[in-house]
Amino acid sequence: MRALTWHGKFDVRVDTVPDPKILNPRDVILKVTSTAICGSDLHLYDGVIPTMMAGDILGHEFMGVVEEAGPASTLKRGQRVVVPFTIACGHCYFCERQQFAACDNSNPVENQEISEKLYGHAMSGLFGYSHMTGGYPGGQAEYVRVPFSDVGPVVIPDGLEDDKVLFLSDILPTGWMAAKNAEIEEGDIVAVFGCGPVGLFSIQSAIAMGAETVIAIDHHPRRLELARGLGAKIIDFTETVVGDALMEMSGGIGPDAVIDAVGMEAHGFAPDNVVEIVKQNVLPAQDRGHALREAISAVRKGGRVSIPGVYGGYLDKFPLGAMMQKGLEIRTGQTHVQRYTAELLEKIGNGEIDTTFLISHHLPLEQAAEGYRNFHDNQNEWTKVVLKA
Ligand SMILES: NC(=O)c1ccc[n+]([C@@H]2O[C@H](COP(=O)([O-])OP(=O)(O)OC[C@H]3O[C@@H](n4cnc5c(N)ncnc54)[C@H](O)[C@@H]3O)[C@@H](O)[C@H]2O)c1
Ligand SMILES: [Zn+2]
Ligand SMILES: [Zn+2]
Repeated sequence: MRALTWHGKFDVRVDTVPDPKILNPRDVILKVTSTAICGSDLHLYDGVIPTMMAGDILGHEFMGVVEEAGPASTLKRGQRVVVPFTIACGHCYFCERQQFAACDNSNPVENQEISEKLYGHAMSGLFGYSHMTGGYPGGQAEYVRVPFSDVGPVVIPDGLEDDKVLFLSDILPTGWMAAKNAEIEEGDIVAVFGCGPVGLFSIQSAIAMGAETVIAIDHHPRRLELARGLGAKIIDFTETVVGDALMEMSGGIGPDAVIDAVGMEAHGFAPDNVVEIVKQNVLPAQDRGHALREAISAVRKGGRVSIPGVYGGYLDKFPLGAMMQKGLEIRTGQTHVQRYTAELLEKIGNGEIDTTFLISHHLPLEQAAEGYRNFHDNQNEWTKVVLKA
């Protein structure tokens, strides 16, 4: 089959690779119909996530049609499903608590030591996201093996086309969980750092949960316009001192909650960021915390900090003093996708949520490398790329 494979920094290629096979009775093989490139994939493309190997198949946002079902799967050949990027067994200590992204059974034992050393505990499995998270081949491919197919995949009713439901695999629940983690209440003022797909869905979710004012921060005019279209006020961080503007826009108090939808590769010419860009290029497991520092500094005393943005290693100059002295709450994590899919599918079905507005480009899988290059280099125009396998 054809698949998008990783070969190093800025080097991804569509290659011919062996077809996937059923390995466990609970598996299915999916024929992929649509798959998207995520901001998280850019961290792989930039080579800042450790434990990638040449030839790894990328892709954790995908959907398709069941081609072959293992004997213990609850799915049937021909069913159309969206697959959560977090691989979860459904029965372990964590899955029973709906902490699916912490599943203890989905990362094969031979890969567990890496994250055990780095984080103190082994991570769960994720599709197409390094050997630290299981080394699972991803879904930017013609076919993909889906483990625990009786737990994760969401069966899609006829009549809902791919573009409306594909983002249930990751970014829609991620924006939703980011807003839940920010504990939004009616009347809140919320600042969202980053207007990529995750930031945009965080804005949409915060408004749906009753936020009175959402302030969106980025530097790409088109992405800021999409945020404005959702009802947010906007700040271009290249034109304004973000902290001052947020104070002014929140009556001198600071936002009730902040959401960091930027993650470990913040942009900007601030001194802390310039130093961290250099460090990230020469040392492993280094994060850039510029947006997170700004968010923590801006949020009001007693406020909430939600971090959907991905961080992978060690962050210097973390403002723990501000966290402690202002009495902040902080919540973060890979999204527990399976917890939210049923609720969000219903909202898509009844028209409460639209997910299609951010798609800027559809490309055939064969042009996936071009999609990566543009989603990376031309973020203003390329807001979300959907690949058609
Ligand atoms: N927690 C999860 O489960 C989960 C799931 C999906 C994505 N993510 C992460 O969420 C983050 C965002 O994903 P995305 O797909 O939207 O990525 P993206 O790269 O498309 O968007 C990031 C946006 O942040 C903006 N930005 C950069 N520096 C900034 C700054 N200093 N202040 C304000 N804005 C700034 C960029 O201009 C860009 O528009 C990534 O780190 C991604 O890995 C996490
Ligand atoms: Zn993603
Ligand atoms: Zn589990």
